[in-house]
Amino acid sequence: MKIPTETETVERNLPPVPLSSEQIMDLFHNASTQELICQANRVCRQVHGKDVLLRGLIEFTNFCTNDCLYCGIRRGNQRVTRYRMTEAMILSTVQKGYQRGIRSFVLQGGEDRNFTTDRICRLVKTIKSQGCHDAAITLSCGIRCREDYVKMRDAGADRYLLRFETADPVLHRLLRENSLEDRLKALEDIRAAGFQVGSGFMLGLPGESKETRLKNILLCQRLELDMIGLGPFIPHPDTPLKHASQHPLEHTIRSVALVRLALPQAHIPATTAAGSLVPDGREQTIAAGANVLMPNLTPMEFKQNYLLYPGKVCLREKGIQDITRLHHRMKPLNRNLSFARGDALGYPLTNMDKGDGK
Ligand code: 5AD
Repeated sequence: MKIPTETETVERNLPPVPLSSEQIMDLFHNASTQELICQANRVCRQVHGKDVLLRGLIEFTNFCTNDCLYCGIRRGNQRVTRYRMTEAMILSTVQKGYQRGIRSFVLQGGEDRNFTTDRICRLVKTIKSQGCHDAAITLSCGIRCREDYVKMRDAGADRYLLRFETADPVLHRLLRENSLEDRLKALEDIRAAGFQVGSGFMLGLPGESKETRLKNILLCQRLELDMIGLGPFIPHPDTPLKHASQHPLEHTIRSVALVRLALPQAHIPATTAAGSLVPDGREQTIAAGANVLMPNLTPMEFKQNYLLYPGKVCLREKGIQDITRLHHRMKPLNRNLSFARGDALGYPLTNMDKGDGK
């Protein structure tokens, strides 16, 4: 796929107006992938400039009570060596990232009851009080009850990620044993607790139709998400979906571009899954409108056991030492890595502004 050059894609002074759902539908059905890439790249550059934001990812537990058919760390997968990082390990991983300049961390885990909400709250407070007061913390630790999100927000967490996975309610229940409705209710609760909200979906799940792919994009728009993660489904050999077919990256690229056009201000990562599917998958995704990269800071001994899908590219990368390499990879796209917190645009107050970023 051709990556557009500067002159082809950047026209300054055009206000990036979010497209309506009708316009998105029209482009979804009628635009070529190259057209979508060009438009989305232009809008991305207008709103976000040359910066590609860094978020340091720490996969702190691979225990999970859920049994999602697509996921390599599902409860039923007996072949996984389970681990939990201790608070001290998590803290030192964050601190190392902080010393390297990172100011945005994502703590992601399976739905692990051992990490109670109180435990997570203590962890967030510790991180913020041990020298990382101005770093943003994003939690991605599954569905909890409404009061728990409030507690986590009060403890100083800034953002919460919970992908809706697929906007097709029937497929959702089939794959996850839980309802899409519950997931959307959780996203509402997360928003109500005052978090910057992230969600997203996978592309190429078995049973997904073209209509599903359109619905995914329109749902992101309806939810007015601050952060949107979307990437290709990659079948894992130790899951019931091991024989599912692999869809091309193009579906992901088209979706990223359309999501960018629907939500010009959103932060959209170029996912590790895209980079794992094809070698320049993340570069292609950045060129199609993404503006975030997530270096994986999880210590090597653990990250090899956090295999949601096979062939995870970050196992070959050293996380923090790799940032220089990421920088070089962004150069041909005329993008610079940014160490800023990268709050949701238009979000009025950060914890720091409120004076409770202890
Ligand atoms: N392929 C690609 N992405 C996956 N995820 C889970 N399993 C897979 C897979 N087999 C995604 C889900 C989840 C996120 C953390 O990883 O969307 O929300």
